Amino acid sequence: MKISTAKEFDTKSDALVVGIFEKDNYRTLPLDLASNITLALKREFFQAKYGEIYFARAVSLPYQKVVVLGLGRRDEFTLEKLRKTIGKTIKTLKSHKLETYTTNLAEICATMFDSTQLGRALAEAHLLGDYSFQNYLNKEKQTKPLVSVSLQFTKEDKPFQEGLRVGIIIAESANYVKDMVNEPASVATPVYIEKAARALAAGNTKIKIRVLEREEMKKEGLGSLLGVSQGSTQPPKLIFLEYQGCKGQPTTALVGKGITFDSGGYNLKPTGYLEDMKSDMAGAAAVLGAIRAISRLGLPRNVLGVIPTCENMVSGGAQRPGDIVRAYNGKTIEITNTDAEGRLILADAISYTEAKYKPAVIIDLATLTGACIIALGYHAAAIITKDQALSQDLIQAGEESGDRLWPLPFFDEYQDCMDGTISDLRNTSGKGRGSEAGAITGAVFISKFVDKARWAHIDIAGPAFLADGNGYTQKGATGFGVRLLTYYCMKG
Ligand code: BES
Ligand code: ZN
Ligand code: ZN
Repeated sequence: MKISTAKEFDTKSDALVVGIFEKDNYRTLPLDLASNITLALKREFFQAKYGEIYFARAVSLPYQKVVVLGLGRRDEFTLEKLRKTIGKTIKTLKSHKLETYTTNLAEICATMFDSTQLGRALAEAHLLGDYSFQNYLNKEKQTKPLVSVSLQFTKEDKPFQEGLRVGIIIAESANYVKDMVNEPASVATPVYIEKAARALAAGNTKIKIRVLEREEMKKEGLGSLLGVSQGSTQPPKLIFLEYQGCKGQPTTALVGKGITFDSGGYNLKPTGYLEDMKSDMAGAAAVLGAIRAISRLGLPRNVLGVIPTCENMVSGGAQRPGDIVRAYNGKTIEITNTDAEGRLILADAISYTEAKYKPAVIIDLATLTGACIIALGYHAAAIITKDQALSQDLIQAGEESGDRLWPLPFFDEYQDCMDGTISDLRNTSGKGRGSEAGAITGAVFISKFVDKARWAHIDIAGPAFLADGNGYTQKGATGFGVRLLTYYCMKG
């Protein structure tokens, strides 16, 4: 979609979309439209409440449709509300087969938000909201994307244009992630992820790539990752994408869970829980998307993307409950449940990364637990860490970007729940019924593989993949994590 800016409405557009705050002045709108809105407000067809949509009559205007959006109270409006409004608008326009529109949404927000942040949010909302996954739909079932939006904006504003530019890169990177996660597991295999990573490195001289194959993992002793992969015919991969944006500065490692299909293994998932498990590589895809965005923005940071990727399958060669594996850091792990596989691949990826690359900060993203969805639902990912400063920075980046985080506690009392009886560790909790505080006990396990680095764990099981779209998201993959990590890295 082409996003352009002009001082006036673009009269060649198919539709005019105007936003109105409750009790706000709309007198600058074309006269015919303003009087129609006055009538609607008087007769209460429309009250300008947040989320309302009114199709106005303004016969003198050159548009096929004139859409009036209620934005609610000005003092309660946020950039996230703006993104959601735009997402809904795009769905409405598409359902009326309108391809171009012009709007005052930038103009009426100009005094409320920082110009760069406003530009970013507008670009993100348009590109994210217009996304659809159509790789397997025939022509009749496909919907056309919007062709263009013309943002009416009277300020000569460089920061606003810069915001648009940044927002476009970030949203395109999130859409790239959605494509990858929406692909079926038969396509998006570990080799597919490796190819995507190689393509990112080939397109940017500041990115170096290294991929550990099964043989090297054996030599290096990554028994925890290898154990998960052993039931699959797909070879496992451990991918390192090194983006150097600032020589001599400390490195931040972003580690993403890349299970391309999670059957549960011998602790097989039942019907109803298996169907969306192609999305169990959403953390890995988000790390690729973040590296894509960060490198295209040329951020002055050193960021290492780490992707352990394999399938969790059942076969005669698959790992059994009760097996004991030895991880890269030497710790032994009893496999008490083959479905708790994400932590097993993250364990080796993290300790290997720390030993070889010595990052100052490690942030892992994983669709780790169903328990996290029970705790928070689909509107936030959980952040679990003892590092309060890191937590605050990430939560702030989440708030600004729309990829929201909510903290779960990491009290000392939890720390022994993964201790083994016949091994150093077990991969599910040995306390109580074993299932209590499942999102936290998963994090406890991972923490045993972090040595000196500052570390935070982000469980994205809820917001990474949705049964229904809303606002500017669609059913399926959301690209969660790209905006979060890129905003975090933009803070310097
Ligand atoms: N990939 C799942 C978690 C998941 C569930 C993600 C639903 C997205 C939607 C993970 O590997 C898993 O199966 N976790 C187990 C852990 C348990 C056995 C300790 C779970 O949550 O049940
Ligand atoms: Zn699992
Ligand atoms: Zn999983």
